[in-house]
Amino acid sequence: MLKTLTPEMRTVHTVEALRRIVRGWKQDGLTVGLVPTMGALHDGHLSLVRAALRTMDRVIVSIFVNPTQFDNPADLGSYPRTGDEDARMLAEAGTHLLYAPTVDEMYPPGFATRISAGGVAEGLCGAHRPGHFDGVATVVCKLFLQSQADAAFFGEKDFQQVHVVRRMATDLDIPIRVVACPTRREADGLAMSSRNRRLAGAGERDRAGVLPAALTDAARDIAAGRPGGA
Ligand code: PAF
Repeated sequence: MLKTLTPEMRTVHTVEALRRIVRGWKQDGLTVGLVPTMGALHDGHLSLVRAALRTMDRVIVSIFVNPTQFDNPADLGSYPRTGDEDARMLAEAGTHLLYAPTVDEMYPPGFATRISAGGVAEGLCGAHRPGHFDGVATVVCKLFLQSQADAAFFGEKDFQQVHVVRRMATDLDIPIRVVACPTRREADGLAMSSRNRRLAGAGERDRAGVLPAALTDAARDIAAGRPGGA
């Protein structure tokens, strides 16, 4: 098992250390990919790492549970955190650099600037989670600028997020390619998600599996000209 680990994966916790390593790579003419995550990793995240490794010379994965995108403190408090296991999975997948900043590193005392995400951030999830996409856009903008990556990889599972991030990078002239990768699913069709591990009581996990089945049925009905699902 240990033989499959990539001993070269380094872990840094500061912007300064991250920048020093990326500067060295760029001086060597290497391309850099970024996979932003909040940890509690699963195969969906690893598929993003694999996609990045296929096209980029060096791959950074960031793990940061971003407080500014949670509108509910209880949700932030109970967000799954599996640091050691995450690091092991990333090393095994061939990640070159794990960037895991602290909250103070990302938002030092006095931090006072926040991106206001409009347009595609309005509606859908944005309508039910006030400030969520402002927090996402702000932290992703910082990750882009901190890492100076050439491309960043996101899952299509968070479809609205991909579009919010693309819009933000375009609007703020950040020279980065935003790559959307296909959703990874469990055997019953449920999209892989860090939050799935919180589905436990009273058959919650089984009931969640009904969702993709219902959506697939609805899509089939609509394609067949039966929008009412008759
Ligand atoms: O999708 C996520 O895990 C988060 O929203 C992201 C993009 C890492 C920003 O915190």
